[in-house]
Amino acid sequence: MSDDQLIAAARDAAAHSYSPYSNFAVGAALRFADGSVVTGTNIENASYGLALCAETVAVSKAMAAGMRGGLEAVAVTGPGTDPITPCGRCRQVLNELAQLGGTDPDILCVGPDSVKRVKLSVLLPEAFGPASLT
Ligand code: THU
Repeated sequence: MSDDQLIAAARDAAAHSYSPYSNFAVGAALRFADGSVVTGTNIENASYGLALCAETVAVSKAMAAGMRGGLEAVAVTGPGTDPITPCGRCRQVLNELAQLGGTDPDILCVGPDSVKRVKLSVLLPEAFGPASLT
């Protein structure tokens, strides 16, 4: 799947966002080395602080399906005028899956007119992860 297709998958996922409180629909799509793609979208809650971000939902789906590495690229889309970058918690969640497989995925932060491509290690330098516990 190309980067453009990955971005389209993230946008499609955002169509299922449950975000009645923020009205900020986010989509995420993870691409793996074996060619598989797993998507997620944000799921909010009447108890506002319990909102689940799109990237966290996508990583949870992937890990629940048995994925433990090979994370190559992540596309994140939002409704704003600027490219959306993963929140701090999502960077840490993405790092867990990435570090398990020894990859440093490209994060495609998608805006209406542009895509910002940045390595996860740049968004989360000197990360604490599974390797830190050995
Ligand atoms: N959100 C995400 O899904 N991913 C991020 O990386 C940042 C924020 C969601 C959480 C909440 O439902 C909405 O965007 C507004 O913060």
